[in-house]
Amino acid sequence: MTKSLDESLSFFKDKIIDCIKSKKSISVTTHIDCDGLTSGSIITKALIRAGANCTVRTSKEFSKNVLESFKTDSRDFHIVTDLGGGFANELDKTLGDNWIVLDHHQIPDEELDNQNVINSWKYGIDGGTDICAGGMAYLASEALDERNSDLSAIAIVSALGDRQDQGERKSFTGKNFEIANIAKELGLVDIDLDLLLVGRETRPLADSLAFTSQPFIEGLTWNREACFSLLKSSGVNLKEEGRWRVPADLNEEEKRQVIESITKFASGKNTTEIMSELIGYTYTFPREDNRSFLRDGREFSTMLNSCGRINRSGVGMAVCMGDRNKILREAETILTDYRKMIREYMNILSNERWRISESETCVMVNGEDIVPETMTGTISSLIAGSPKNSGKIVILRTKGEENTIKFSSRKSFGCTSDINLSEIMRNGAERFDGIGGGHNAAAGAKITKDKLDEFLNYLEVNVVNVPSSSNSQ
Ligand code: C5P
Ligand code: C5P
Repeated sequence: MTKSLDESLSFFKDKIIDCIKSKKSISVTTHIDCDGLTSGSIITKALIRAGANCTVRTSKEFSKNVLESFKTDSRDFHIVTDLGGGFANELDKTLGDNWIVLDHHQIPDEELDNQNVINSWKYGIDGGTDICAGGMAYLASEALDERNSDLSAIAIVSALGDRQDQGERKSFTGKNFEIANIAKELGLVDIDLDLLLVGRETRPLADSLAFTSQPFIEGLTWNREACFSLLKSSGVNLKEEGRWRVPADLNEEEKRQVIESITKFASGKNTTEIMSELIGYTYTFPREDNRSFLRDGREFSTMLNSCGRINRSGVGMAVCMGDRNKILREAETILTDYRKMIREYMNILSNERWRISESETCVMVNGEDIVPETMTGTISSLIAGSPKNSGKIVILRTKGEENTIKFSSRKSFGCTSDINLSEIMRNGAERFDGIGGGHNAAAGAKITKDKLDEFLNYLEVNVVNVPSSSNSQ
């Protein structure tokens, strides 16, 4: 019998209390992206507060290698967050009953009855939109001790990092909405309708407008000079006391002026769409310093993604767990480097047009030898965000370690395809001895290089040549 969510959470609590009482050491293994780092930090912080003896580590993926490492690991109990879907049987074989997975990825049916799998889908909660691993880790932490409710703020960063702000005007839905409200009631977050410009707290206005690619505004996006002249002519002061002003500095009247100028500039060209994407909910952490990249939830999530993606997960986790000293400068440098790297990869991919092939419904991109494996997901999300790919499925491939190829797929904005990318990637990878999974709209896979042609043929039949809104497989 599948347990209810509450039953699973108290099962979790009992397991942890037992570990603490019997002095069992606990290992937390989590993913390297924003959701991984936040969920790992939330659960680790809760364990430390409870007096558990625990350590935490990150992994790019959950694989046979990770399972093997558990066999020789001296720790007694394993918690896996944001990873581990599809591995329940092997975890049972390797660790007996000494493990728990906290996750939100779609899982095969045979895992639904395994009580050690605490996965949102088991409880009818959509893990693609309504909760992420950070949210699941938050619920488990709060069940352990209700004083952990302050960790709700970090769970907001998880959901933003996984782009679960898909409700009206970029709001949250389901459990994410409930968790964000807990943080709001505790005074940990301000939720406001505002201009959605990237780098709200840190970037000069013109940069901020130029680097905002959702909405993509023809003539402004990626064009700093054009943004600068538009903002200047809007009458808003771009500098104050010798410093460039950032979006968070604008008062209501100034925001109105900016919106009016953008509307005029874009006149005729999908103005309504632009406006509806430009205004949405912002999540501001009032306890962080003004102009800190941790004050805006979305920028905080980008920083965490950047740490994981360039192999500096420890920095991101330290920040999530409350470290605010020298580490902040390090995190800031990582964020800057990461943004630079992204620009370079996107430039190369758009210059070498042979790397991109398109059908009516799908864009396939070959990023081998350009995009490093750890950045695959970030770049495929960005390619999917480009307006010329809207409505399509994007699939990017890169080289992985040990003769492997990594695939990352995304449904772009406006995509109406019925294809479930999680099923495509999981089934395809399994057919060719690889691993794969994820969500309906964002999924990945890894196969060995010798299977590449066969896997590409499989994608050709099941994705590339499948017309929109018709089922596959
Ligand atoms: O492992 P995980 O679930 O955390 O990752 C989901 C990935 O899919 C994230 O990188 C997130 O940014 C991306 N995503 C996306 N578009 C969506 C939903 C998720 O690019 N609509
Ligand atoms: O790597 P990428 O960002 O494209 O992954 C998209 C989603 O698919 C993530 O949620 C990731 O955890 C999941 N995924 C998976 N198994 C893989 C690769 C990705 O479950 N082998």
